[in-house]
Formats: sequence, structure tokens, C-alpha cells
Amino acid sequence: MPLSSENFEFIRSFAYSSAAIVLEPGKEYLVDTRLSPLADQGGFDSLDDFIHKLRRDRANTLFHDQVIDALTTNETSFFRDFHPYEALRHQILPQLIEQRRTSRRLMIWSAASSTGQEPYSIALLIKEYFPELASWNVSILGTDLSSTVLTQAKQGIYSQLEVNRGLPAPLLIKHFSKTENNKWAIKDEVKKLVEFRQMNLNKPWPILPAFDLVFIRNVMIYFDIETKKNILKRIRNCLLPHGYLFLGSAETTVNLDAEYKPVTFNRTVVYESISSSRKGAAAALSTAN
Ligand SMILES: C[S@@+](CC[C@H](N)C(=O)[O-])C[C@H]1O[C@@H](n2cnc3c(N)ncnc32)[C@H](O)[C@@H]1O
Repeated sequence: MPLSSENFEFIRSFAYSSAAIVLEPGKEYLVDTRLSPLADQGGFDSLDDFIHKLRRDRANTLFHDQVIDALTTNETSFFRDFHPYEALRHQILPQLIEQRRTSRRLMIWSAASSTGQEPYSIALLIKEYFPELASWNVSILGTDLSSTVLTQAKQGIYSQLEVNRGLPAPLLIKHFSKTENNKWAIKDEVKKLVEFRQMNLNKPWPILPAFDLVFIRNVMIYFDIETKKNILKRIRNCLLPHGYLFLGSAETTVNLDAEYKPVTFNRTVVYESISSSRKGAAAALSTAN
């Protein structure tokens, strides 16, 4: 039975208010595909019954989280798009290492890190190509809204299919070990560079350190213009001078935030904040407004 228009409207406004996710009219099929398995698991007769329960049960945050989890797209892979990581390896990290020689500190944030492939790709690159950073204070923070993806990210365990996507075989052999059930677990010396925390980009942010690099890739495509502007502004408050913002290949700051300057490194564009107010590691509270 097709989803009622009233229930679709409810899910639309629920996704927007909870996670800033925009579900355009016509995306009923998406709601149906994503939520029907939850309705089936819960023993509901129809998707409409399931949504009625969601509407009544406003205090059940676990239930609400499951629905938001199901509505988000968690697609990711190791070294996704390749070129940003080439720029990181050959230009951006060597440049940052020169600039941070005195502080010997590098802080990197992967906002919307999904199941962890993005922050672990950065950690693998650092481990493999920048051994001099072993004596530095290097930290990579991975955050995501979804507790389900964070569970896998924290475990650092991936299927054969997942490691086949983008992870070069020599890095797999060197930095992962095979588990009893034929999966691949990232080794502790790489894993310990990354810390994961739950964080909704659309709510007030916790106190964050000042970052040298912020990756917020392939998530803002789901947000509207006002939300993108707000998040880009808040990221500027977290970026250190000469720090860079990395976006997905279909994303840009152009026409959203003039305080970012696009900088081209071979086949990738990153964004430098020209009004970075963060001068050191001091923490600041970013608000949703
Ligand atoms: C398509 S994945 C991108 C993963 C990775 N950055 C990449 O480019 O491969 C998008 C991620 O954004 C997360 N997400 C969606 N809305 C969010 C929000 N409001 N706050 C934090 N994370 C969010 C989803 O849970 C999902 O894991």
C-alpha cells in the first residue's frame, strides 16, 4: 500500500528537524525502501502503522535514532575519489608539517565519517608515508550522527568487499589482520590515531579542538542552502590558519561562504579559510546559530 501523504510529510519534517536531511517531494519511494525493513522487523502490518507509532512515541529516542539511521546514506570507501588523498600526501601534509614544526601537533576532523573508512584512510596515509609524525601529537576525530555506523567504525573491522573498494593491497596486508570470520581488522597502531564520537552537525556542537584539516565530504549534499551556510561558518571557527577544508567532489563553498578560498592541488580543490579566528588549540563552543 502506498505511503499516505500525511505520513510522508511527517517523515520529511522529522528528517529535517532531526538531521537537516532534505527529502524532496517525490522521495516517497526512498522512505518506503529505507523504512519498510524496520516496519517488518517490528511486526507492523504496514509502513503507515509504523509511522503512526513513531508519531505517538515521541519520547522513544532509540526508536527515533533507528529511523534517522535508516534514512541516512552511509556510502563510503577507503581513499574515496583518490585525488584528495594524493594532494594530502604530496602537497598538503608536507606543507603543514613545515608550518607546524614548532607545535608538532596535527588535528584532523572527519565530520560525517560513516563506518570509518575516511578517517582510517587519513591515518593509513600518515602511518605509511610520514614516519616522522610518530613523535608528534597527531589526532584524527571521526564523528557521525548514526550510532550504527559508529559501532563499526570503532571496531575497525571490514568485509572483503569493503577493503576491495579503494584500499591498495600492500596497505591491506601491512596494516590489517584477518579475523576468524574472514573479515579484516585494522591494526592498533593505526586505529589508535583515530577517535570516534557521535555528533549531529545540525545541533549545537560540543567543544572541539582547533583543526588543521576538516573533511566534511558527501554529507552536505543532503542539506539545504541555509544549513550548508551555517555549518561552513561554524567550521571556520574550528579551522586553524593555513588549515584546509575538504569537500566531496560534487560539493563547493562557492556561493555559500565567501570566506573560503578555493585552492587547487593538481586534480583536487580544497578550501582555505581566509578569516580563520582560531590561533591555537584553545577550545570554543560553536552554536547552532
Ligand atoms: C555518504 S556518508 C559520507 C561518508 C564519508 N564522509 C565519505 O565521503 O565517504 C554521509 C554520512 O553523513 C552522516 N550524516 C547525515 N546527516 C548528518 C548530520 N546531521 N550530522 C552528522 N552526520 C550526518 C550519515 O550518517 C552518513 O554516515
